[in-house]
Amino acid sequence: MAEKIWLSSPHMGGNEKNYVNEAFDTNWVAPLGPNVDGFEQDLSRYTGAGYVAALSSGTAALHLALILAGVERGDEVICQSMTFSASANPIAYLGAIPVFIDSEEDTWNMDPVLLEEAIKDRIAKGKKPKAIIPVHLYGMPAKMDEITHIADKYGIIVIEDAAEALGATYKGRACGTLGQLGILSFNGNKIITTSGGGALVGKDAAIISKAKFLATQARDPAPHYEHSHIGYNYRMSNICAGIGRGQMEVLDERVNQRRANYDYYVQHLAALPGVSLLEEPVDSISNRWLTTILIDPVKSNGITRETVRLALERENIESRPLWKPMHLQPVFATAPVYKNGVSQRLFNDGLCLPSGSNLRPEQLDLIVTIIKGLWI
Ligand SMILES: Cc1ncc(COP(=O)(O)O)c(C=O)c1O
Repeated sequence: MAEKIWLSSPHMGGNEKNYVNEAFDTNWVAPLGPNVDGFEQDLSRYTGAGYVAALSSGTAALHLALILAGVERGDEVICQSMTFSASANPIAYLGAIPVFIDSEEDTWNMDPVLLEEAIKDRIAKGKKPKAIIPVHLYGMPAKMDEITHIADKYGIIVIEDAAEALGATYKGRACGTLGQLGILSFNGNKIITTSGGGALVGKDAAIISKAKFLATQARDPAPHYEHSHIGYNYRMSNICAGIGRGQMEVLDERVNQRRANYDYYVQHLAALPGVSLLEEPVDSISNRWLTTILIDPVKSNGITRETVRLALERENIESRPLWKPMHLQPVFATAPVYKNGVSQRLFNDGLCLPSGSNLRPEQLDLIVTIIKGLWI
């Protein structure tokens, strides 16, 4: 069997082990320590976010963000439909109700027109949503000016899901820092990884400090264990944070490499009948976490994204359909949705191609050769 080519696999820079060894040497083998502090500072400096809490996952970060936004049982939270389930699951953890919004064509993210329509409709039905969760899918910044303008108009908090978008910018500002709160993920498949981890970022010191308090079991100041809030065990380990510090040293290189992968795919695939690749809007820089292609079977003479996926799979190459929208997921079947058909079409026609920063030129060459071969 040929060597497996992954969609997006971890790519170490070299210095990670030094930070991890230091943690062992100094016995900071705990969910706190110098690497946690250092990683938070690195993230804050890189993104320009005021304050950062390093956490055990992006999902945990979103859960805490919703708690800090005051979301409670029975509340409604607006969420982009086209996303990974982890954007929406924490809404359900709190007994709140997700209200899904379809995508627009330019970035595939939350459609601001449908967003305002939904807010008006939810208010008319008696309940103003408590928060809005836009997602920067595959590293492509959402239309944040429009979204934050609408959110401000109705006085609703924006929690940016930037799990896939570290290193991406919108009008010169880092994704994750454009709403009141933002979340990042360092899962093994992300642009940088801590093996598993996440972060909550925000401008308000008191809110991020409260996030750290809740993430460490909500211990009140006392010599014994005293609690006046429900707490969580959501802090990042000092070992994982050591990996993160090493990864931050190579983040810019990783972004450049992923962007180069996208350029390579455009160069070799964009001319195939029925194939298109998502372009960046002016003022946005995507980190191109994953390169995605759309295949219109009418123009491609019947070739579908499944034809391409199976052809790659036969050669031990991983690719994956785009996220199946949340409003089409059985688990969210009863949730309200404001739709226009865009995300359903993207799911039907779209495929994520191998996009790791560690892909070798001959691997990229093999991938495009297999795909082009289907059109001959
Ligand atoms: C859009 C999105 N939101 C949230 C998450 C959750 O992050 P984590 O896996 O760190 O919990 C992920 C990735 O896993 C994601 O892609």
